[in-house]
Amino acid sequence: MPAYKIHEHTFDMVVVGAGGAGLRATFGLAQKGLKTACITKVFPTRSHTVAAQGGVAAALANMGEDDWRYHFFDTVKGSDWLGDQDAIEYMCREAIPAIIELEHYGVPFSRTDDGKIYQRPFGGMTTRYGEGPPAQRTCAAADRTGHAILHTLYQQSLAHDAQFFIEYFALDLIMDANGACRGVLALDMAEGTLHLFKAQGTVLATGGYGRAYFSATSAHTCTGDGGGMVLRAGLSMQDMEFVQFHPTGIYGAGCLITEGVRGEGGILRNSNGERFMERYAPSVKDLAPRDMVSRAMTMEIREGRGVGDHKDHILLDLTHLGPEVIHEKLPGIAESARIFANVDVEKQPIPVIPTVHYNMGGIPTNYHGEVVQLKNGNPDEVVPGLYAIGEAACVSVHGANRLGSNSLLDLVVFGRAVANRAAETVKRDGKQATLASDACDQALARLDKLRNANGGTPTAVIRDKMQRTMQADAAVFRTGDTLRDGVTKMREIHASFADVKVSDRSLIWNSDLIETYELSNLLDQALVTIVSAENRTESRGAHAREDFPDRDDANWQKHTLCSVNERGETSIDYRPVHMYTLSDDVSVVPPKKRVY
Ligand code: FUM
Repeated sequence: MPAYKIHEHTFDMVVVGAGGAGLRATFGLAQKGLKTACITKVFPTRSHTVAAQGGVAAALANMGEDDWRYHFFDTVKGSDWLGDQDAIEYMCREAIPAIIELEHYGVPFSRTDDGKIYQRPFGGMTTRYGEGPPAQRTCAAADRTGHAILHTLYQQSLAHDAQFFIEYFALDLIMDANGACRGVLALDMAEGTLHLFKAQGTVLATGGYGRAYFSATSAHTCTGDGGGMVLRAGLSMQDMEFVQFHPTGIYGAGCLITEGVRGEGGILRNSNGERFMERYAPSVKDLAPRDMVSRAMTMEIREGRGVGDHKDHILLDLTHLGPEVIHEKLPGIAESARIFANVDVEKQPIPVIPTVHYNMGGIPTNYHGEVVQLKNGNPDEVVPGLYAIGEAACVSVHGANRLGSNSLLDLVVFGRAVANRAAETVKRDGKQATLASDACDQALARLDKLRNANGGTPTAVIRDKMQRTMQADAAVFRTGDTLRDGVTKMREIHASFADVKVSDRSLIWNSDLIETYELSNLLDQALVTIVSAENRTESRGAHAREDFPDRDDANWQKHTLCSVNERGETSIDYRPVHMYTLSDDVSVVPPKKRVY
């Protein structure tokens, strides 16, 4: 192996990723006086948060009755009782100050006539502990809420003394012999130089891994790079079998059409023109949670009531909303529908299909954003120096199914939480123990191997096989047979990475190499996902097993932990669900049948 020159940087904290969670953490840490770096593979305002549309949940009660305790109840129920109730309490209570803070930072929220933040209904959000009418809880900036939040957070970041390393790709975590994270090795993609970021704390805010699937609302950059690094470090991922399908991706293109459309009154219709959700969720209809709507759509298609030449999709009708509502509240989706489906939403329905949207699973953390692992019988053992937030993490506030608009909330609440935690536990300009001289050797050997990979299979070929297998075998509905078949195929595809071919040997703007790293991150997580799905013999939230149609709390109310080694061997363990709250302000919601 040639000697690779490494540029060393020392920070108190390093954040990997500059989406909503990464930016909120970055300037929060800088605000606390910690010397902070943020490294990101894309320019911050190009991070995938920019694509979030419908809004961010908080029980502000601007448009009717609401209470954060109702939000807590809805989130526990939405999670199908797999969410940790201490973390859910934290998120729903903190939602209110977190959104007011965003408003003060300058997020251009839409407004009510009396100047308050506009809030729309979203799936599964109710009042009076599920007994009252739907809550208008989702704070919106038209249908471009993620765009508004991301740009505001980036502006705030520039006002603080954090240092950005833009278009740097994180290669691997640097772990020491005691299992502590000591920083990260990254490649400056433009210069082709290697950089070691030594830090007391490393925060992974790297987003989800939606691109393990063929059709996803996620950007092509959503390759779960943090999760990939965590698995390579020998740590486990949690609840990876829970993959959210958003009911309304544009048929064929996969782009998101916000749930806010149904929040504003849009209706899903089958080939008979029937509002079929009335049969599946009689009280909330089209505003049922995503797992239920996606399953209902799939049932309609299976039973021959899909639309189009192949009867393989559904229609989202907003023609009755009128031009005023569309222009004021939903301008972005009108544009997307025109560009990607050739549809004028004032006159025609949008062809839609359930599309991979979000990973409920991720790097296990507590509600401070500290990464936890099962160690010596302790399910909540903190991994020193390592944090994860946002979609990369599994706190777990979403459990088996996330409610729409709880994702932008998760980003800002836990981005802030990690900064608060680090302020208590990390020393400003603290002295860091010397790293072992071989600390980067493994990461460098891997870089050298991938850069010179001279097998017979191009990266794109392996990626295509992975995406098609995940799409077919880890879908909205799953069965033991297809999952077992999928596991066998994914093991073969994972193993075929040994034969990967990288054609470009340089280090400067080597997109071939970067895509190969991304593929490797995706492959590990795809395998862990399908293995965890095959292992969980019950149905809960987004994990719908046709051979085990019921939720089985006695055996399965527990978090899956799954790891994979370099030979592709997986191993599974479990952590208990936190069935306790942080205060007496709310009571634990005991499991019951989840009906809407
Ligand atoms: O439908 C949407 O606007 C997506 C929101 C979310 O995933 O939270």
